[in-house]
Amino acid sequence: MQIIVKKDEFREALLSWYRREKRDLPWRRTSNPYYIWVSEVMLQQTRVDTVIPYYERFIENFPTMDTLAEAEENDLLKMWEGLGYYSRVRNLQAGVREVVSNYGGEVPSNRTEISTLKGVGPYTAGAVLSIAYGVPEHAIDGNVMRVISRLLLIEEDIAIPRTKKIFEAVVMDLIDKEDPSSFNQGLMELGATICTPKPRCLLCPVRDFCLAFHEGRQEGLPVKTKKTKMKIIPVVSFAIRNQQGEWLLRQRPEKGLLASMWEFPMVEPAENNTPQEMAREHFSIELKDVVDILSFKHIFSHLTWEMKSFEARIEKVDTIPAGYRFFTHEEVEALPKPVPVLKIWDELKQGGTTK
Ligand code: ADE
Repeated sequence: MQIIVKKDEFREALLSWYRREKRDLPWRRTSNPYYIWVSEVMLQQTRVDTVIPYYERFIENFPTMDTLAEAEENDLLKMWEGLGYYSRVRNLQAGVREVVSNYGGEVPSNRTEISTLKGVGPYTAGAVLSIAYGVPEHAIDGNVMRVISRLLLIEEDIAIPRTKKIFEAVVMDLIDKEDPSSFNQGLMELGATICTPKPRCLLCPVRDFCLAFHEGRQEGLPVKTKKTKMKIIPVVSFAIRNQQGEWLLRQRPEKGLLASMWEFPMVEPAENNTPQEMAREHFSIELKDVVDILSFKHIFSHLTWEMKSFEARIEKVDTIPAGYRFFTHEEVEALPKPVPVLKIWDELKQGGTTK
């Protein structure tokens, strides 16, 4: 592997570009390690534009680690509603509770200790250490791997976990000891705005240092083997009301996909039955006034739900399926719901049938 020869010039080019061009983001106006931690957890798997309003609302509601440590899970999930990957916020709370009880409320400032906290992996550890505390530590995410793989023409498969070690070593060699925060965020910013999957090399402040650019190979990097094919699962959802106009929902199990979020009755249909037949078979309930309301795809990281949703009424309520309950409109509003359920709920509200 070749190494950048003019490291000082590279750092200077990256840092002066970042200081000049960086986006004004709310978590860039603070060095509070708790706030940086929250932002980095939100930014995993989620775009900056999406994160901003969630971050601001979260910090407003849980301004200190004590307030987050004491929060109810339901309020926490409600605050995260729509962001996806809900285990992130549960782990964040567990990690914050550890800081409150074992570290006197101070986020540890070294990699060994911070890495023991629930939900804090190598990336989050490095991001908090460098951005909040100015510690020269690597923070390698997918964007940074793309930047570095091009810069040094690294052809190792980034889908293989041990490849990360190469990138960590490179960043530890290159990192600016005076301002590791700007250095790491400069790499992230470059990956987010210029060294994108389809790179805009003519705007790149470190193009002169980029081996892939010199060989015209930037578009072929990084090398990433294809993931296993995405599973497609047909799902049928029933928004069911009783005679009082209340809705039938349940809380999902504590573990697994969309853990503890609330949903309408759903089935993965084995056969091409009618909605009435499916409701009878899976929930032992009799539906009437069934209306087809919405079909859409919901993409998770590893599978896709092909959703079909129906609205219906139930007459006899002596046979409610186990785990389900009826909720008023206001109660449904307050429950934390995952995106596919929110979509159906919004459609019901727009149709004017929820009240
Ligand atoms: N993505 C991950 N961390 C980030 C940060 N601190 N700023 C912008 N984008 C990011």
